[in-house]
Amino acid sequence: MKQPVRVAVTGAAGQIGYALLFRIASGEMLGKDQPVILQLLELPIEKAQAALKGVIMELEDCAFPLLAGTVATDDPEVAFKDADIALLVGAMPRGPGMERKDLLLKNAEIFTVQGKALNKVASRDVKVLVVGNPANTNAYIAMKSAPDLDPKNFTAMLRLDHNRALSQLSTKAGVAVGEIEKFVVWGNHSPTMYPDYRFATVGGASLKDKINDADWNANDFIPKVGKRGAAIIEARGLSSAASAANAAIDHIHDWVLGTNGKWTTMGIPSDGSYGIPEGVIFGFPVTTENGKYTIIKDLPIDEFSQKAIDKTLAELEEERGGVAHLLG
Ligand code: NAD
Ligand code: LMR
Repeated sequence: MKQPVRVAVTGAAGQIGYALLFRIASGEMLGKDQPVILQLLELPIEKAQAALKGVIMELEDCAFPLLAGTVATDDPEVAFKDADIALLVGAMPRGPGMERKDLLLKNAEIFTVQGKALNKVASRDVKVLVVGNPANTNAYIAMKSAPDLDPKNFTAMLRLDHNRALSQLSTKAGVAVGEIEKFVVWGNHSPTMYPDYRFATVGGASLKDKINDADWNANDFIPKVGKRGAAIIEARGLSSAASAANAAIDHIHDWVLGTNGKWTTMGIPSDGSYGIPEGVIFGFPVTTENGKYTIIKDLPIDEFSQKAIDKTLAELEEERGGVAHLLG
């Protein structure tokens, strides 16, 4: 039997938490042979702690063979102690009519505190995924608040956007989702993101040639993927939860277990590729192997794509400017 992996989840009693924990405990994130210890953080308020207790009772009632322990706490330094993986979900979600960046100052404080706690007590190899919005800038705040950890350990979730786009492409082209390769969403998890299928293939043939519809790309596909989160809020009255949890599982699964040469999208600190300033947390095309990701380099960027990338970068720079005073 393998040693258990310590997985910290913040906002564990929230709606994403509820869709996430049972799947982690059943082995869907790290493999069916990998025991886990869940280290769960909730706010120090009675209602949140009571809800967390209830979730843990339900986890117990599933008798998951891979669940080697649970910790429930309101202290980030307890939740992140020796954590190998940290899923930073806990934050305020947006409601109808709001943009994710409207949450920036409300949620920024959380990621400063949690970045510092990770810096102090987590495994030096901790893999951090920020889900709480605005995810890219929150990941940036956490990364900057954890100077003793490798910045590469901090990532933001663009996988939900990636999966949403794959589903739209599959319907448009009449191909199975799993057949589509070499797709990427560039930039910010916001309506400025740029879902880009110029390099995508199906069975080795170009998906762009198969679709051959520039008008659909510019006026239907890109805005639909960008505004899908708002469309879910409009329909459900609540932001996406099961699909967000699913994307978090996909993100960590692929980071830890590898993509076998296939591309995926991760929000990661830029290394300067594609002219994105170093450190900006940006959606890039990556492959992963042995727990490390590698950016796909030197893809040709045409004028349309450059404009789209510039736009999403400008928004991220604006968000970064808006929190600079918190980072000293
Ligand atoms: P929710 O309100 O149902 O749950 C959030 C939970 O976090 C609550 O239980 C709350 O008590 C807890 N919490 C708040 N602050 C905390 C803190 N400092 N420490 C620990 N716990 C804390 O919200 P949700 O629907 O689960 O969404 C959570 C976040 O994820 C929101 O910011 C939402 O916008 C975001 N989100 C991101 C994506 C993405 O693709 N990146 C997708 C969906 C939702
Ligand atoms: C999403 O994309 O569904 C989430 O980021 C929630 C939101 O506010 O849109």
